[in-house]
Amino acid sequence: MQITLTVNGTPITREVEPRTLLVEFLREEAGLTGTHVGCDTTQCGCCAVHVDGRAVKSCTVLAAQAQGTEVTTIEGLAAPDGALHPMQQAFSTHHGLQCGFCTPGMIMTCVALARDYPEMTETEAREKLEGNICRCTGYNGIVAALLDGAQKMAGDDV
Ligand code: FES
Ligand code: FES
Repeated sequence: MQITLTVNGTPITREVEPRTLLVEFLREEAGLTGTHVGCDTTQCGCCAVHVDGRAVKSCTVLAAQAQGTEVTTIEGLAAPDGALHPMQQAFSTHHGLQCGFCTPGMIMTCVALARDYPEMTETEAREKLEGNICRCTGYNGIVAALLDGAQKMAGDDV
């Protein structure tokens, strides 16, 4: 079947099998390998991207289900001039990453959480991140980055 998705602002049309996952489409058809696969069973969140502005685990969505949508991946988060998104900057500032494998999914989830819950407390931040696993266990830095990034996003109206 033929599908067209707009990925990071660029329409991409491909022939895919109906069983093709969105994460496979992004990595293998669009060549955007920043979206990682850490489990394939909807547990780790490494594959999180935004579909029409909502965070989804792209290993759990068929590419065909995303037909006609606007998809944003980690590669599309920075400004066109290369300036980091406030949440990317917060991860850098607070050392919210170690090996970096979970980081793209963490950041995409955190951007969505910050938009939905700009006033969240630390306890709420820890609860809301339960769908993203960091095998390096760098949660203190990740939570600090989420809270700081959310504040900056609210201030910047991002
Ligand atoms: S690869 Fe999608 S949740 Fe782990
Ligand atoms: S930084 Fe290594 S898995 Fe999270």
